[in-house]
Amino acid sequence: MNQAQHPSVTATVSAAINAALSAAANPVKTAALNQIIAQLQQLRVLPILVADDVQQAITCVSTLAQYGLTAVEITLRTPNAMQVLAAVVKACPDVCVGAGTILTPRQLQEVQDTGAAFGISPGITPVLARAAADSALPYFPGVGGASDLMLALEHGFNVVKLFPSDLVGGIKMAKALGGPFPEVRFCLTGGVTLESAPQLLAQSNILCVGGSWMCPAGLIEANDWNAIGQLAAVAAKAAQQ
Ligand code: 3PG
Repeated sequence: MNQAQHPSVTATVSAAINAALSAAANPVKTAALNQIIAQLQQLRVLPILVADDVQQAITCVSTLAQYGLTAVEITLRTPNAMQVLAAVVKACPDVCVGAGTILTPRQLQEVQDTGAAFGISPGITPVLARAAADSALPYFPGVGGASDLMLALEHGFNVVKLFPSDLVGGIKMAKALGGPFPEVRFCLTGGVTLESAPQLLAQSNILCVGGSWMCPAGLIEANDWNAIGQLAAVAAKAAQQ
């Protein structure tokens, strides 16, 4: 096999072509995506919020931002999640508010309609990847291994969520995928903790880590914003180590 036929070279070339095509098609999307990536690179930690109450979600996101975590992923896992997302986007204009758990093109469109800054999925399908590539919404697909990643690259996505990180190999998986896919950067989520974050962030192709440990359900339920503020401050500090 000559070098031009090598799978990683082919995938890289295909990703570059797709990225160039989508950049040409939508420079505004590319600029917005690059800005979000730069912010994640600076913060290095992305809180993941599961909330069903609008007021609690707004207070939680405001508290996280006040203590340094100015980007958040709001999951679409509760009955009222889309309303929560829309309300937080409106109430917290200085926060980079994204939506997680996007499973269908329809949800992708609904997320875009809320004015959210970005979308994230736990996995990837050809249908969703195509819709996300065509959409104006900055987007990060989820991957669990090399085949998912090849599908992501075919659609021009080279920053992806590795999920569930602790079950699919975490730092070892990110390191291994860095061989054939050197241009890819990962956001690790699923089982990441305050204790594991600094070690994960030391790996060069890990852009950031995400997790719910900064805003656990019990503290949200108890409206304990002081405790959430402290968790956010500690996480923000640990991420800079
Ligand atoms: C996710 O959506 O990425 C995960 O549910 C976050 O995982 P965690 O709750 O283990 O942090």
